[in-house]
Amino acid sequence: MNHKARLLWIFLQCAAALLSFAAGEKSVLKGEDSGLDELSTDSKAFNGVKYNMRKSLDLDQEGCYLQTGKKDCLEECGFNATAKTIFIIHGWTMSGLFESWMHKLVSAVIQRESEANVVVVDWRTMAQQLYPDAVNHTNGVGLDIATMLNWLQDEQQLPLEKVHLIGYSLGAHVAGFAGTFVRGTVGRITGLDPAGPMFEGVEDQKRLSPDDADFVDVLHTYTREALGVSIGIQQPIGDIDIYPNGGDVQPGCALGDVLAVAGNFMEVMKCEHERAVHLFVDSLMNKEHMSFAYQCTGPDRFKKGICLSCRKNRCNNIGYNTRKMRKRRNSKMYLKTRADTPFGGYHYQMKMHVFNRKQADNADPTFHVKLYGAHNDTAQISVDVHDETIGLNLTNTFLVFTEKDIGDILKIRLSWEGNSESWNSVWKNIKKTFWAWNAKPPKPVLEVRRIRVKAGETQKKFTFCAQDPAKTEISPGEAVVFTKCRDGWEVKPRKRLLM
Ligand SMILES: *[C@@H]1O[C@H](CO)[C@@H](O)[C@H](O)[C@H]1NC(C)=O
Ligand SMILES: *[C@@H]1O[C@H](CO)[C@@H](O)[C@H](O)[C@H]1NC(C)=O
Ligand SMILES: *[C@@H]1O[C@H](CO)[C@@H](O)[C@H](O)[C@H]1NC(C)=O
Ligand SMILES: *[C@@H]1O[C@H](CO)[C@@H](O)[C@H](O)[C@H]1NC(C)=O
Repeated sequence: MNHKARLLWIFLQCAAALLSFAAGEKSVLKGEDSGLDELSTDSKAFNGVKYNMRKSLDLDQEGCYLQTGKKDCLEECGFNATAKTIFIIHGWTMSGLFESWMHKLVSAVIQRESEANVVVVDWRTMAQQLYPDAVNHTNGVGLDIATMLNWLQDEQQLPLEKVHLIGYSLGAHVAGFAGTFVRGTVGRITGLDPAGPMFEGVEDQKRLSPDDADFVDVLHTYTREALGVSIGIQQPIGDIDIYPNGGDVQPGCALGDVLAVAGNFMEVMKCEHERAVHLFVDSLMNKEHMSFAYQCTGPDRFKKGICLSCRKNRCNNIGYNTRKMRKRRNSKMYLKTRADTPFGGYHYQMKMHVFNRKQADNADPTFHVKLYGAHNDTAQISVDVHDETIGLNLTNTFLVFTEKDIGDILKIRLSWEGNSESWNSVWKNIKKTFWAWNAKPPKPVLEVRRIRVKAGETQKKFTFCAQDPAKTEISPGEAVVFTKCRDGWEVKPRKRLLM
């Protein structure tokens, strides 16, 4: 616990530095309720917003700048009002410099949408302040963007449904305000790990919300809370909210159990917060291998493998490829990812009924599966029933994630960790204490007759039966091999009882 307390302390140091909490957070939100009129009058205060249109992949070229009311800029920039218009909005910045993700995102967008008007909304002068002050500017910057979009509608008949605002961290809420203030409804807003502090739990109008665009999709990657603070907002705030890896610990970012120095801790925070951007970039670049997310009421149920259905729009592509869904508030979706690009992997739901045959009431078995696919095999994967023990005389559902496409699964090897000897020695100790020297150590015996598998990515279902029908029992240190025995698993309920 001491170790945990120290980590927490370091976290708070960093959070304080990162978010400059010194200024009282409650007072800052006051006055933001002021209506559009009042804001319009002092909108001149926000003329520090710059609209940098990017045409070329050569990021050293400065591109050109759009300015509200200046027609010649549009011509000079080659603004094409019939093409898509994509605004990229950064968040709070400590250095005042664009971080490297910005270049990656801009070039990925340009490569994917070569005809689009790609515009970087540069509000760094207002973002490079104490965090509460930067928050205080999100409303005004959003209004400035709305003013720009209104002018483009008037001047160029810009179709608002082709406008896509992409905002990272604080920028996500800026996009929300832009969507609120603009005349009409923008097509889409994507929030990339929208900022949490001072936005968590506030009313819809004061943060990104589903009303801000025709379609609002959100990626949450850093929603881990420490003393009531989460860098990324935890609550769902879009039409669809995707929580990769549960939205907390991102693979490839974690410290492990090593106590880190504060500097590394900052890196971890940045890695997890920024992961949303990299997942989005990945979705722009890796069109052929899309990652899917699955609707689920919570991360725990997802980790148990319960939610891998695609029926009735319950699954969706993540990032840029997310399909618009009918307005349905607070649809939380989950997926697991790899640690690096390409982030996508393969999800399998597995179900097996574990019969208690002998002496297994307190056995607490630790199972592993190894999958043999048409292309390749996996390593041993531990059967994780998520903080619960394997249920005896029950059907257990669990999630298996593979980083590689192993092709259709041909065979599953289920093994019970531990060997008979270690079981015996445990038993010996128990015997000693009970002075039961003569009893032969009984071996727990469980039975698994079949494993039912559903592949999330293909939605295909298969049933695997014991390769040797006579060998379905398993004890510590042993394994049972299952092979595909029937297409589909839609067994009639009556038959299912016979398993
Ligand atoms: C927030 O902005 C308003 C004006 O828009 C200003 O009156 C107020 O002092 C600002 N609050 C902080 C903490 O900067
Ligand atoms: C403008 O965009 C539209 C739609 O993407 C495209 O068909 C058209 O060729 C573009 N015009 C110019 C001048 O690039
Ligand atoms: C499971 O069923 C077996 C026999 O059918 C029984 O002996 C055993 O006590 C049951 N175990 C549990 C945990 O219900
Ligand atoms: C199978 O996986 C192993 C280990 O990940 C890898 O070295 C090997 O190249 C893969 N084989 C094929 C055919 O993909």
